[in-house]
Amino acid sequence: MQILSGKELSAQVKSQVADKCMEFEKRFSRKPCLAVVLVGDNPASQTYVKSKKKACEELGIAHLDIDMDKSTSQDELLKCIASLNDDPAVDGILVQMPLPSQIDELAITNAICPEKDVDGFHPQNIGKLLLGQETLIACTPKGILRILDHYGIQTDGKDVCVLGRSNIVGKPMAALLMQKDRNATVTVCHSRSSNAQDYLKRADIIIAAVGHVNAVTSDMVKDGAVIIDVGINRVPDATKKTGYAIKGDVDYEDLSAKVSAMTPVPGGVGPMTIAMLMENTFIAACRREGVNPESFGNEVNC
Ligand code: GUN
Repeated sequence: MQILSGKELSAQVKSQVADKCMEFEKRFSRKPCLAVVLVGDNPASQTYVKSKKKACEELGIAHLDIDMDKSTSQDELLKCIASLNDDPAVDGILVQMPLPSQIDELAITNAICPEKDVDGFHPQNIGKLLLGQETLIACTPKGILRILDHYGIQTDGKDVCVLGRSNIVGKPMAALLMQKDRNATVTVCHSRSSNAQDYLKRADIIIAAVGHVNAVTSDMVKDGAVIIDVGINRVPDATKKTGYAIKGDVDYEDLSAKVSAMTPVPGGVGPMTIAMLMENTFIAACRREGVNPESFGNEVNC
């Protein structure tokens, strides 16, 4: 079985983005800038935000950190976003999800200026993605396509089963794979699917994004399938310093004897999501300066 290492690939992507950011700074006498908004104290969100800021520092991207209390009202967060939208120094805005229950996530997503929406969650960007138009593409699905491309995994005419219908992963993933440059036959299965097993069994590629462990086991898949595991689940583990281990959505050990290729967790999709966020920030900065991101060093797929 081939291990689809997002860790290795993300290092390559980040190094290319770092070179381009250096060139950007030479041309415009400033670094691309990402505003990172964290509301509340969700431990997983704190970890993700820390990784995103660290990546900014490694790549020469400035970050503006905004930490808000868990009791923050929707209006307060909307005001914060309005000021970031208006701030000429800010190229990208990331509001870490999930948000506390008093805040409507869609209202927040809608409020972010689409040109600064480096998560690719705004309805305008999701709509463009569905229509196959140039836009800022959601980072996790974009990172998954980059993994497939890098490892030479074709999607043309293939049956792909996407498990999970989230706005962040499942929906944009399905929309990207059905485009004319990907040509996959896509099925989206979810918690209310009555026959997910049938679709899984015939799938050439399975993308698991359901948010719980062992959702896919070897009896559910066909020989030689490709597995992309989007899950990041914390499982209690007394042998770890933190008290938990990180596991994906699929049973890695069980599947490894049957499938042809699989992303590990950790070290698979997660690092690619961060690399794509960095790339999107660079792309957003270029577009705001009125220059083509592809005019910098290596090719950027946007
Ligand atoms: N929560 C889980 N994944 C993501 C992501 O890609 N972006 C944001 N903003 N929040 C998330």
